[in-house]
Amino acid sequence: MTHAAQGGRDEHDTTCTADEHDTSCTAADTSHMAIGSALHHTMPFFPLARTVWALLLLLSNVMHSAHAITPSSLGEFVKLRGKGNTTVTMPSVGAGSMGGCSPDGPFPGGVPCKQYNATLMYLKNGGRSLHDALSYCNQYGTGQAVKDSKVPRSQVFMMSMVPYHLLGYNNTKLAVAASLDQLQVSYIDLVMVHHRACDISGWPRNVCQMKAFPDVPSSPDGKSSVWPAPACSVTDPTWQTCQDETWRALVELRNDGKIRAIGVSNWQIRNLQRMVDLGLELPATNQVEAHIGYVEDDLLSFCKEHGIVVQAATPLGRSMPDLVKPGADPLVTSIAQKYKKSPAQVSLRFLLDKGISPIPSASTMAYQQENLNLHDFSLTVDEVAGLSRLTPTCRGEWFMGLQKCWADPSTLMCMFKNGSRFHCP
Ligand SMILES: NC(=O)c1ccc[n+]([C@@H]2O[C@H](COP(=O)([O-])OP(=O)(O)OC[C@H]3O[C@@H](n4cnc5c(N)ncnc54)[C@H](OP(=O)(O)O)[C@@H]3O)[C@@H](O)[C@H]2O)c1
Repeated sequence: MTHAAQGGRDEHDTTCTADEHDTSCTAADTSHMAIGSALHHTMPFFPLARTVWALLLLLSNVMHSAHAITPSSLGEFVKLRGKGNTTVTMPSVGAGSMGGCSPDGPFPGGVPCKQYNATLMYLKNGGRSLHDALSYCNQYGTGQAVKDSKVPRSQVFMMSMVPYHLLGYNNTKLAVAASLDQLQVSYIDLVMVHHRACDISGWPRNVCQMKAFPDVPSSPDGKSSVWPAPACSVTDPTWQTCQDETWRALVELRNDGKIRAIGVSNWQIRNLQRMVDLGLELPATNQVEAHIGYVEDDLLSFCKEHGIVVQAATPLGRSMPDLVKPGADPLVTSIAQKYKKSPAQVSLRFLLDKGISPIPSASTMAYQQENLNLHDFSLTVDEVAGLSRLTPTCRGEWFMGLQKCWADPSTLMCMFKNGSRFHCP
C-alpha cells in the first residue's frame, strides 16, 4: 500500500490551498487553478475574450467539482467540499466507533479502554479513517491511540459529531472544543451535526459524565449524566433557526482552521433542500443509515446532484447479523463465493459501488482486515440491483423502545413499539 493509499496526502497536493490545514488538493486541483489564473492574467485587455473565458471557467468548475466530488462508484478516496474552492480527501472506507472508553481519559482504572485497543489495531492494519462522536464518550481512546500509533496526524482522517443536546451557536463551539481536547488534536478533518433538531424531539438521555460539561445534572444513581433535551427540539418553533446557528458555528470553525470539512447526519431531502433554498453553504457529507436492503435512493441522488457525499452509518446493518453471516442470505452468499470475499465485504462493496462511503465498526483483527480489503473487486450492475432489492423488515432500537422500519423511509426513526409515530418536519 502506498503512502497515499494509506490515507496520507497526495504527493502533488501541497500548493493549491489558502488553508494551511487543508493538505488535500490534488495535482488536478492545482493545475486547474493554475491554468485559470495564468489565462486570467494574460487577458486583461480583451473584455469579450475575458467574458467568454469566465464562462468557460465557470462551466469547467461546475464539471470539475461535480466529477471530483460525486463519482458513481468510489475508489480508495473521495473528495469532500472544503473551505472556499478547496477539496478535502477522505479515504472512502472508514472505521466506525469501536468501543467504550472513559470520557475523561483513555486508561480508565489504568487499563486501556476498548476504543483505544481497537483503534490502535486498526491503524496498525493500515486503516487511516476514524469516525467518532462526542456523545460516544470515547474520544480520548481514539486520540490517544492515534498519538501512540506514531502515524503522523496528517495521515489520519479524524471525524467527530456535534451531539443532539449541544445544538446552537455557543454549544456547537463548546462541543467542538471538547472534541479537540479529547481527541488531543489541533484540528478535526470532518465534523458533522449528529442529528437534526427535530429528530431528537424532547428526549433527555442518560449518558456519560464529562468534565467538560460540569453543569449537566447526574442521574439518580450518580453513575451518569442526564443530558437534557436540546433547547431547539421539534417542540420548539425556533428549532430550524437553532439548527442554522449550529451550522454557522461550524462554518466559522472550518474557516478558522479547526475543522477541514463540515457535514450533517440523519438529514433528509427537505432539510437539505431548505439549505439550497436559503443559499447556505451545503454540507460536505450526509451520514445516514445505509446498507444492503436499505438505501434511500432519492436522498442519494439528491446528495450526488449537490456534491454531498453520503456516508453509511451501520453499513453492515448492525443488528442484522444474518446478512453478513456466511451462508445466511443466498444472494449475498453466491456473490461472495464468486469474488472469493466474505458476505461483509460484499455488503461494503455494494455501498462503494452505489457511491456511498461506509464506516463499518470492527473490533477484531480479522474483521478490520476484511473491511480494509475492498478495492480489488467491484460488483456488476445486476448484482448491485439484486442486492438493492433485498428488503429486511423492522428492527427494535436499543433505546427508547423505537422500531425502525427499513422499507419505508417516512417512518425512519419515528415509530414507537406501540405503533404510534411522529414525523420529522
Ligand atoms: N450518525 C448516526 O446517527 C450513527 C448511527 C449509528 C452508527 N453510526 C456510526 O456508524 C458506525 C458503524 O455502525 P455500527 O457499529 O452501528 O454497525 P455496523 O458497522 O453496521 O456493524 C457492526 C457489527 O458488525 C460486525 N462486523 C464488523 N466487520 C465485520 C465483518 N467483516 N464480518 C462480519 N461482521 C463484522 C461487528 O463485529 P464486532 O462487534 O466483533 O466488531 C459489529 O457487531 C458506528 O460505529 C458509528 O460510528 C452513526
